[in-house]
Amino acid sequence: VNINNLTLTISAASKKQYPETALPEIALAGRSNVGKSSFINTLLNRKNFARTSANPGKTQLLNFYNIDEKVHFVDVPGYGYARVSKTEREKWGKMIEEYLTTRENLRAVVSLVDIRHEPSEDDKLMYEFLKYYHLPVILVATKADKIPKGRWNKQEAMIRKSLKFDSTDDFIIFSSFDKTGLNEAWQALEKFF
Ligand code: GTP
Ligand code: MG
Repeated sequence: VNINNLTLTISAASKKQYPETALPEIALAGRSNVGKSSFINTLLNRKNFARTSANPGKTQLLNFYNIDEKVHFVDVPGYGYARVSKTEREKWGKMIEEYLTTRENLRAVVSLVDIRHEPSEDDKLMYEFLKYYHLPVILVATKADKIPKGRWNKQEAMIRKSLKFDSTDDFIIFSSFDKTGLNEAWQALEKFF
């Protein structure tokens, strides 16, 4: 996939700042540090377009990235970062919930989990929440480069079971380091725009 025109349309904190376009949107959700921004950078073949850091909890706003005037990728701040105050967590929860439950442009959510670990309680709650609102999910099990290929299937089965995964959703084994799953990810995403 060749991308020419990439812009950050807006970093929004609330509904009144969402872009006033008809472009379809695909949001990215996942634990802080799971690799959401890296996933966007890998898809777009850019080194540091979406901000990545070893510093969890960095992305604090909803970042709307315009991809060739075709779709907005919406990078959502990560959940489950322990060193965030209760007040901040509640603010975060309201912001995400408002976006996920009211945004008409939203077509699907990329939900990222770490392939190495059993999904956290927050991962399970997020998946349940998305399914409750009938949102299509593209599950991306990332950091696949960190375990041997021979263990991928077993980890996938464990994650599917743990999330009570809906078999109509896509499940993609991914790595931002060696680009495992890059084509599969594009194929899954393009169904929605
Ligand atoms: P927040 O914005 O804080 O929620 O984090 P994020 O989910 O956007 O994570 P980010 O992309 O910033 O990545 C966090 C760390 O994980 C960085 O140090 C990345 O280099 C690393 N990382 C991300 N994806 C991969 C991957 O596929 N493989 C490996 N080995 N490391 C990765
Ligand atoms: Mg990020």
